[in-house]
Amino acid sequence: MQDEQLNLCLKKHFPAENVADVRIIGKKVIVQIKNMAEDKAKAESLKKDLAQMFPQYKSSVIFITQNEVNVGVAQIEKWRINGVKKIIGVASGKGGVGKSTTAVNLALALADCGKRVALVDADIYGPSLPTMLGYEGMPLTTSDGENFSPFMEYGIQSVSIGSLIDRNTPLIWRGAKACGALEQLLTQTLWDNVDVLVIDMPPGTGDILITLSQHVDFAGIVIVSTPQDIALIDAIKGVNMFKKIGVPILGIVENMSYFLCPHCGEKIDIFSHNGAKQIAEKMGEVFLGAIPLDAEICAGSDNGAPIVAKSPDSPHTKAYRNIAENILRKI
Ligand SMILES: Nc1ncnc2c1ncn2[C@@H]1O[C@H](COP(=O)(O)OP(=O)(O)O)[C@@H](O)[C@H]1O
Ligand SMILES: [Mg+2]
Repeated sequence: MQDEQLNLCLKKHFPAENVADVRIIGKKVIVQIKNMAEDKAKAESLKKDLAQMFPQYKSSVIFITQNEVNVGVAQIEKWRINGVKKIIGVASGKGGVGKSTTAVNLALALADCGKRVALVDADIYGPSLPTMLGYEGMPLTTSDGENFSPFMEYGIQSVSIGSLIDRNTPLIWRGAKACGALEQLLTQTLWDNVDVLVIDMPPGTGDILITLSQHVDFAGIVIVSTPQDIALIDAIKGVNMFKKIGVPILGIVENMSYFLCPHCGEKIDIFSHNGAKQIAEKMGEVFLGAIPLDAEICAGSDNGAPIVAKSPDSPHTKAYRNIAENILRKI
């Protein structure tokens, strides 16, 4: 109901296509307006209406140019995440490149290296870790009435934004609620003595990703790309965005890098192999490793049985373990 009212209120002041984002962060409602000249009078009258609707919040209206990274928008105060030593993010310039598959198998490989590992699904556009780890449809529970108890699958602790945000909610509302929900998920889960927490980040370079990056104290980010030029261009954008907001890059992983022939064991480059390695070198970043395109990796993700857990001795698991070791050397 409040969502509808807010929608109407926004529409009264600005055309829907100019409203880039609405977020509630801490005690603030932040509305971002894109593709139009700054209009102070309109902004003031929207703020007045918002103050009536949300008496408990302060509101801001921010005009942005389409490609601007809004470094100054969010409060830079870091979220306090208890029970966790190091946090790494797994990000990609675009969706569908295997970010979640990499996050899950990397988390399991880190656990194989003797670390206590947790995994958070922060991809508000397409939360998929519940499927990949086999807790889809199961509600979050609490043991103390206040904090979430993480799921425990294959020896790693895990929660997903999918448990807090309905996928059928329109994107802009998911966006508005996402930051609060992500903060809750990270700060109000009973993490049990975690060495490394892996966050499956939202894809792209959008506002929610930026907010998350500003509020979480990252040891670094792993960028996942496929070898095709189009994915690599987006990966470069991702690297640059994290650099711009001061989050360190741990390195780049090339997913679906090659195909190992199951009959003769020959390595076949389906796409232009090594693109990510070349990009990493050009950008002065570390190339963390390559993961092949493989039916078992795919089936593992889709059936809740990730390959690192299911086939611990496979060459693919070794590839993930190599990357995990490379990461542990850096954090
Ligand atoms: N190395 C791989 N080999 C084969 N299939 C893969 C591989 N990595 C990911 N996939 C498959 O590609 C699809 C997209 O992967 P996903 O991890 O969900 O991507 P993202 O999180 O980037 O959207 C899934 O069906 C997944 O099983
Ligand atoms: Mg995903």
